[in-house]
Amino acid sequence: MNRPNRSVWMALAVICLVGALVAAWLLARGPMPSEGRTSHVDPASAEAPPFLGQALAGEPAGARPEDPKFARMRARMVEEDLRGPGRAIRSAKVLEVMAHVPRHEFVPESLRYRAYADHPLPIGHDQTISQPYIVALMTELVEPTAKGRALDVGTGSGYQAAVLAEICKEVYSIEIVKPLAEEARERLGSLGYKNVTVRHGDGYRGWPEKAPFDVIIVAAAPDHVPQPLVDQLAPGGKLVIPVGRSYQQLLVIERDQQGKVHRRPNIAVMFVPMTGEAQQLRQ
Ligand SMILES: C[S@@+](CC[C@H](N)C(=O)[O-])C[C@H]1O[C@@H](n2cnc3c(N)ncnc32)[C@H](O)[C@@H]1O
Repeated sequence: MNRPNRSVWMALAVICLVGALVAAWLLARGPMPSEGRTSHVDPASAEAPPFLGQALAGEPAGARPEDPKFARMRARMVEEDLRGPGRAIRSAKVLEVMAHVPRHEFVPESLRYRAYADHPLPIGHDQTISQPYIVALMTELVEPTAKGRALDVGTGSGYQAAVLAEICKEVYSIEIVKPLAEEARERLGSLGYKNVTVRHGDGYRGWPEKAPFDVIIVAAAPDHVPQPLVDQLAPGGKLVIPVGRSYQQLLVIERDQQGKVHRRPNIAVMFVPMTGEAQQLRQ
């Protein structure tokens, strides 16, 4: 048998060496992008979870950049002052919204660092923005829905209107102090709330042109329940209102599907008095 000559052995060795080098290069390189053998998602371009405000009815108010410390303060407020012991706001929807609406945007600049403490704060013109717990409680009591139309009497800073706007389809808000109404309208607009209409006027007679309402929240105390507000409740609608003078009680008034009106008392509260017609009718 003929033995292969030396040059054949050399050629075979070169072919093996080149093959080994090509194989090593292919292994080291990994798959080409077009090969698509691995599914790679760039974390920066991965789909982000929907921002809360977009998931709800209102505009993404919090979407404008904010100092992260406000988000931390808001989270503490929700955990301790709203959900915490002795408070127990139960509605997940209300808690979500309270965790989202930037309350610090609704108070004077110099008071922003106190915006998430659980008490009312002055907003000028002898008026206040209500305590967060009371805003959450009143919102929970009226059980707003995404299809609902809301009336907010006593716009003040516009914070309660913003909370309602995150849940309801339409919000109508009335404020008797003209500069407050104008400031709130501008603030709500700049925060992106397109489903809130603010009007300067006396809320005692409600907003008959926009009635009936599924929810009505009143943030100033008359000494009796204004009948026009009860009349503007839709079947199944709920009105929450502080009533009284030195002693005030939060009342929940509901019109059932048959049109019958029921009222039940809730906690004792302390609101600014309702002015305008309510004041003239005080006995
Ligand atoms: C406790 S503050 C409201 C807080 C407000 N909801 C907020 O989120 O800032 C009560 C507001 O009711 C307003 N008010 C009082 N009587 C009113 C009336 N008859 N009609 C409309 N607003 C009234 C006051 O001027 C005041 O701004």
